Amino acid sequence: MAHAELPEWARVNRAHWDEKVPVHVASEFYDLAPLRAGEGRLYPIEEAELPIIAPEGWNGLRVLHLQCHFGADTLVLAQRGATVVGLDFSMPAVRQARELATELGLDDRSRFICADLYDARHALPDPEGFDVVYTTWGTIGWLPDIAEWARIIAWFLRPGGRLYFADGHPSAFVFDDPSDDQPAALLDGGPARFPTPQFGYFTSEPFDLDDPADYADADAVLTHSRTVEWMHPLGQTLTALVEAGLTIDFVHEHDAVPWQMYSVLEPRGDGLWGWPATAWLPLGMSLGATRR
Ligand SMILES: C[S@@+](CC[C@H](N)C(=O)[O-])C[C@H]1O[C@@H](n2cnc3c(N)ncnc32)[C@H](O)[C@@H]1O
Repeated sequence: MAHAELPEWARVNRAHWDEKVPVHVASEFYDLAPLRAGEGRLYPIEEAELPIIAPEGWNGLRVLHLQCHFGADTLVLAQRGATVVGLDFSMPAVRQARELATELGLDDRSRFICADLYDARHALPDPEGFDVVYTTWGTIGWLPDIAEWARIIAWFLRPGGRLYFADGHPSAFVFDDPSDDQPAALLDGGPARFPTPQFGYFTSEPFDLDDPADYADADAVLTHSRTVEWMHPLGQTLTALVEAGLTIDFVHEHDAVPWQMYSVLEPRGDGLWGWPATAWLPLGMSLGATRR
């Protein structure tokens, strides 16, 4: 797609993601060593739930990974025997994914396509349909239209094919770290930078944000710091999938996510970040759904 054809929000977000790619590839956060050793792993949440999505394993399954970033998770599924197509609107991400696939000897089982999600049907006409559509951690918040997202997923799945979706919980996205001039709140008896409400759960207008920090590298200072993001209430996401032709198989809420969503969260030692003591609010959610 020509740059000028993209709406402003997509151009802003794409510049942000283009800049993040080399930062992420070099980061410890995206540790590629297991993948390079032929034993790529997903986070424990996905590892626990994916047997529901692919009970017979991944061998021979046709998988579409939407918003695949630089392909690390896509290639984990390819290493397990799936034939994968990754789609992302960042050309540096797609280039990096292709290089990684070649390095890992997975070219014959993987394809990476550069396209805006809303252009996916044109970028990848696929009459046969996929067995699985996979999309996780940091996805729909970048998208304005959740009903169209759901229709695209339904269009790509064969009847009986399944969606796996995991992301931050929308009720957790209402909160963020307090600014430096706000008083520290009490969390389980101790002073902490407890998250405070910052964003409306039902707000359909985009949030125009500016943050030079990067979740994968504490030292990074991004030049393309502006982003345009959206809130998607849980009920709207579930309803969009049902209206698009999917049956919801499970919805799970999690007290941990794979990044430090708030500064008060602590690493659990398994790649996930959770509350220091009592779980106060769901941080993540995941769902499985089947194309009718
Ligand atoms: C947080 S990453 C995806 C997470 C993935 N689990 C990971 O950590 O590798 C979000 C991805 O969405 C992509 N993205 C954002 N908006 C998009 C859009 N409108 N169309 C296609 N890709 C988009 C970005 O380029 C980025 O690679």
